[in-house]
Amino acid sequence: MWMDNDFLQGEMQKVEEQLKKALKTRNKSVQQELTKLQQSGGKRLRPVLTILGGTFGEYSSKEVTALAVAIEIIHMATLIHDDIIDDTKLRRGSETMHTALGNGIAVYTGDFLFSRAFMQIADFAETNLMKDISKGIAYICDGEIDQNEQRYSKSTTFKQYLKRIGGKTAVLFALSLASGAHKAGCNRKMSSKLGVIGKDIGMAFQIIDDILDFTSKECSIGKPAFNDVIQGVYTLPVIYALESKYKKETEQALDMITEDGGKSLREVLEKTDAIDKSRKIAMKYIEKARKKTMELPDAIGKELILNIIDQQISRKF
Ligand code: IPE
Ligand code: IPE
Ligand code: MG
Ligand code: MG
Repeated sequence: MWMDNDFLQGEMQKVEEQLKKALKTRNKSVQQELTKLQQSGGKRLRPVLTILGGTFGEYSSKEVTALAVAIEIIHMATLIHDDIIDDTKLRRGSETMHTALGNGIAVYTGDFLFSRAFMQIADFAETNLMKDISKGIAYICDGEIDQNEQRYSKSTTFKQYLKRIGGKTAVLFALSLASGAHKAGCNRKMSSKLGVIGKDIGMAFQIIDDILDFTSKECSIGKPAFNDVIQGVYTLPVIYALESKYKKETEQALDMITEDGGKSLREVLEKTDAIDKSRKIAMKYIEKARKKTMELPDAIGKELILNIIDQQISRKF
């Protein structure tokens, strides 16, 4: 995705090396799982965005990469906790932490990662950045809590959906770009501009993720397909199908999901334009992000952010 840019490739190599150090723990089995989580891939979108945000200011490799590492660690912690709650067996193509070591250890490992992320940031961050990052994590938790409250609710609205994905996903994308810029000395106005772009990319990213849950295979996304709906997480395509003239059929299909493994829901979704409509909403966010990025001053990161934006709509994993 970003491997053909020498600057970014070099910076991301530093991120990987620091990440490896930051993930060190004395417990052998936890260490094994953390190493696996680091090595089994992951698109590294958030640390990449942190670095790109940094290119809009006085880029300092040491500080921006350290921040990028912290952001990826926060992401990893949320994945570990999210997989417990979503009861997911597979992440990045490998067995999830709680499947390997049990829920208890996985909860503590997630917490351990949050504290490692803060140690990483405390080395150089000033109070404002600490505040922004803490606020960001609180929003992620709010979003995940909303999602849990809305589980199996067939009356979840478009607005509620946008709010919860804004919290659980888009906030960290916003934080990635904005904090990178902040660390590179950009003023508040510039970092919030980048934050807004990150938020829009994150919204599109999560909508696409939710579509992929219906349209992809486990082997390409590296996590189980159809898991959202089985777990009662009704995402945008389902919300649209419930608003369509196939409301009754959708409700019935949702009720028999555990018996038929989603066969009926697939059939209803094909009849409605729910997936297309969802994709259009993702496109709206992509276009918004694109437009605002075009208005940014020139920087190494500008073209690369545009590439990332364009890749979202066609992404397969
Ligand atoms: C997964 O994020 C969680 C969501 C917000 C959908 P990513 O798809 O970025 O996960 P990795 O890091 O590439 O595995
Ligand atoms: C992930 O949302 C959001 C966070 C990790 C906070 P999802 O539940 O949709 O992510 P996947 O599909 O498990 O990657
Ligand atoms: Mg999940
Ligand atoms: Mg998902």
